Amino acid sequence: MFPIQRGRRLRTNEAIRSLVRETIVTPSDFMFPMFIAEGTNVQEAIPSMPGMFRRSVDLTVKEVKELYALGIRAINIYVKVNDSLKDNAGIEAWNPNGLMQTAIKAIKDACPEMVIMPDVALDPYSIYGHDGIVEKGVVLNDETVDALTRMSVSHAAAGADFVAPSDMMDGRVLRIREALDKSGYTDVGIMSYSAKYASAFYGPFRDALDSAPVDNKEIPKDKKTYQMDYANRIEAIKEAIYDVEEGADIVMVKPGIAYLDIVREVKDAVNVPVAVFQVSGEYAMVKAASERGWLDHDLIMMEQLMCIKRAGASIISTYFAKEAAQFLNK
Ligand code: PBG
Repeated sequence: MFPIQRGRRLRTNEAIRSLVRETIVTPSDFMFPMFIAEGTNVQEAIPSMPGMFRRSVDLTVKEVKELYALGIRAINIYVKVNDSLKDNAGIEAWNPNGLMQTAIKAIKDACPEMVIMPDVALDPYSIYGHDGIVEKGVVLNDETVDALTRMSVSHAAAGADFVAPSDMMDGRVLRIREALDKSGYTDVGIMSYSAKYASAFYGPFRDALDSAPVDNKEIPKDKKTYQMDYANRIEAIKEAIYDVEEGADIVMVKPGIAYLDIVREVKDAVNVPVAVFQVSGEYAMVKAASERGWLDHDLIMMEQLMCIKRAGASIISTYFAKEAAQFLNK
């Protein structure tokens, strides 16, 4: 080995380092998660996610055009639903004139090339803050899946390119695929949140949508009967394989940074693109530490995105998408 082998030769300067670099990150790798609010000309800051806003549809459309100009080609959308429209069954979720459906149509009209992946789950519509219908303290599976299929078809009818079920009910990918096909939406894809863990990293997101499980003895206080136990890896592989067999075009692992071992294993186990969601709590941690001057914001942001890609992600859903695209375009 030494002195014939000297690993440092390939690290001599930036030109050589760039020649041998194995991974690149570009703006078209990103999906930008966006929060939609009712009204017009509304832009509300989300305190636990500095730099993120809930915006009304009109301002969202403006933002989408900016994102497109920066090279971002896909967005995830989430809606903040008025309490008066919430119930246990999530009926508002498939209202053809609901906030989500209206947003999809407006974005498609204004920026047809932007790939839209609306979130499919009942939590923003649920009085209990659960991703499914709750009965006698249990989140019902099959009844919830029926609701999710209606929701998915309504998203497709509004113009969504993909639907993105984030609920972790069993069998929902198969039923959604069947429902889309039956309604003539054979070209609308499914990006499944396949390996989604019951994680405390989702805290700021639940603030943004006011969607945390309610504090009530009759209602499960967390999502552990459907989201996965973060002690486990085998079931992540199993869930991803099931979803591909059920018709998922893209599978997702979530959260990101603390779960990169899972990303690599899922990547090696399936033959579809793997997406990773760098979630709200991960974003908040970087913002908080860099606001205090304890970490260099841009360096940490780019390091995390690169490491997520290196682990096997083809796509990264990240609140840093816009800032990272600006950084890369500099
Ligand atoms: C809801 C959903 C959640 C996230 C995406 N879709 C929250 C949850 O499951 O409680 C989290 C995203 C984030 O934290 O950035 N089904």
